[in-house]
Amino acid sequence: WGLDGHYTVCKIAQSRLSKAAADAVEKLLPTSANGDLASMCIWADRVKFHYHWSSPLHYIDTPDNLCNYQYKRDCKDEDGVEDRCVAGAIYNYTNQLLSYNKGNDHVSTYNLTESLLFLSHFFGDIHQPLHVGFTSDRGGNTIDVHWYTRKTVLHHVWDSNIIETVEERYDDSNVDELVDAIQKNITTGWADQVNSWENCSDNKTACPDIYASEGIKAACDWAYKGVSEDSTLKDDYFLTRYPIVQWRLAQGGVRLAATLNRIFK
Ligand code: ADE
Ligand code: ZN
Repeated sequence: WGLDGHYTVCKIAQSRLSKAAADAVEKLLPTSANGDLASMCIWADRVKFHYHWSSPLHYIDTPDNLCNYQYKRDCKDEDGVEDRCVAGAIYNYTNQLLSYNKGNDHVSTYNLTESLLFLSHFFGDIHQPLHVGFTSDRGGNTIDVHWYTRKTVLHHVWDSNIIETVEERYDDSNVDELVDAIQKNITTGWADQVNSWENCSDNKTACPDIYASEGIKAACDWAYKGVSEDSTLKDDYFLTRYPIVQWRLAQGGVRLAATLNRIFK
């Protein structure tokens, strides 16, 4: 996602934190955040360039056209180094944050502020369908399309263009209205699904493999579907995919909160 997608995931998450998790997040955030997690959720994209090692941690490439995901097969970087993908990163930063509860601030091996900012960002990315995409097109990054009259690539349609078009059309350029619309759906239309989103099997703290499997399915069913090189995407694509964007942003936010609530008890 771009700025507004990550902001939305983190706004929804912060509104659902337990007292213990809210306190921990507040303590870990840099003072410049003024207690607002959402204001920092794009941080991991900004540091990609000087934390060069972190750039493969934002996505997963799966085999072309299979439309499924397996950790062992797919969670590696381009050099084949295992665990270097967004699911591996979510496991890693979840484990680092679990050391917060052990208390001894001064001897922590990790910078837990950075762990929190990475984890919060990666919960957003793993819910962007094309961040769990096909290998040969780099998650839609090499598929040129037109978004209405503008030239872009399919990956960017899902990161930003759909959300921007929503804001222009319905909300007059305000991300907070998008957050409100999603919060309403969470308490009404999707209320009966929300518990199942929060579930994480067998006493695990984080469940990124579930989110990645859903992600590649959504990529096949919605993002790639009907699109080829030089397609023009307009109202029929926008109107059918916007609900999927809302739904994935909602899941990302609900699950980030549930995970932070399990970490900080
Ligand atoms: N680079 C390679 N694959 C990618 C993906 N699925 N998403 C974002 N960047 C990528
Ligand atoms: Zn990212």
